[in-house]
Amino acid sequence: MSKRESLRLDLGPRSYDIVVGDGLLGEAGALMAPVIRQKRAIVVTDETVAKLHLGTLLAGLDKADVAHETIVLPPGEATKDFAHFGKLTDDILALGIERGTPLVALGGGVIGDITGFAAATLLRGLDYVQVPTTLLSQVDSSVGGKTAIDTRHGKNLVGAFHQPVLVLADMDVLATLPRRELLAGYAEVVKYGLIRDAKFYAWLEEAGPRVVAGDVDAQRQAVLTSCAAKAEVVAIDEREIAERQLLNFGHTFGHALEAETGFGDALLHGEAVALGMRLAFDLSAQLGLCSPDVPLRVRRHYEAVGLPASLGQIANGRRFEASHLLRHMGRDKKVRDGHITLILSRGIGEAFISRDVDRATLEAFLVAETQATLRNAARPT
Ligand code: NAD
Ligand code: GLY
Repeated sequence: MSKRESLRLDLGPRSYDIVVGDGLLGEAGALMAPVIRQKRAIVVTDETVAKLHLGTLLAGLDKADVAHETIVLPPGEATKDFAHFGKLTDDILALGIERGTPLVALGGGVIGDITGFAAATLLRGLDYVQVPTTLLSQVDSSVGGKTAIDTRHGKNLVGAFHQPVLVLADMDVLATLPRRELLAGYAEVVKYGLIRDAKFYAWLEEAGPRVVAGDVDAQRQAVLTSCAAKAEVVAIDEREIAERQLLNFGHTFGHALEAETGFGDALLHGEAVALGMRLAFDLSAQLGLCSPDVPLRVRRHYEAVGLPASLGQIANGRRFEASHLLRHMGRDKKVRDGHITLILSRGIGEAFISRDVDRATLEAFLVAETQATLRNAARPT
């Protein structure tokens, strides 16, 4: 029997359901029918996901007599650029759409972000359904309405807040996800425990190894709790004026690491976030904001599930320069009046927004971190 649960993201007239469960792709037409305005959908996916899961989704649309057309994009972050966005919107227009024609994003965060942005802009706003196929997109990018593409100035710099009308997080698709991608998504799961839910984090310490080993019940529970946490935060602060900034825990450090490695396969977003959260805990402990036991506890969990806990473990052990990282951090979207915004922590589940750390302190911290990595690399094994 299929196991299925629904959550509601409460945003007044823009509220929507997040359905988490098994067998959702094959029922997609029936699940979408109550919220779509035409019995027609334009599915956007990538080549990898198309081979694995498009057939099941299309069969699910056929079963409910939802007509469909499909556009297949290349996989990978490079697809989230102006060139692909231009072609995507042009291809969608060529199909002859109306305001009531929904788009369906079948894929990871790349497909979700670019399709969501196309939906936000085409005919000044189409409906779209998120069908996330990576753990990262199920627990984070498909929920909350952030859509964007990258520019040569940085990641996600052109975009819009545009909420989907439905999210279908099907557990079955996770079975084909490569382990590295699953782990990267798991970093975003851990994030919810670390920022606001010590009980969930304690559960992850016990169940996390099963989540990353592919236990479907543990995965469903992890996705449900993560989506519930995200829905709660987005309902309070859709436009990231305050509370939603907490969801960027680990991201200021993480984005700097990603920028240094070129936003690609060398370092996945989730890997960067994992390390960024670890750095945020170490800095918090160093500033006396939390006990030194807290970062140790986080490191132990990372080791138990296989997440990277030190700079030397990411991007094939490449060397990072503190000054480069600091420069990237200074360009972060969250810089206010020249102050770098950091999410720091008073303990597990107690993250807060800080603009109090001066650049000299941050630089000294990053210099120590990058040099510690060098010393460890030089140590005979
Ligand atoms: P992704 O979309 O690039 O997917 C990762 C890889 O997995 C791709 O090669 C894809 O083809 C493949 N894949 C997807 N589903 C699969 C499946 N079920 N089986 C096998 N392979 C599969 O990456 P991602 O990690 O899902 O998302 C990263 C993107 O999300 C970044 O662009 C990031 O900026 C964005 N993001 C957005 C938000 C938001 O709130 N909008 C939040 C976090 C991240
Ligand atoms: N990924 C952070 C957010 O959606 O706000």
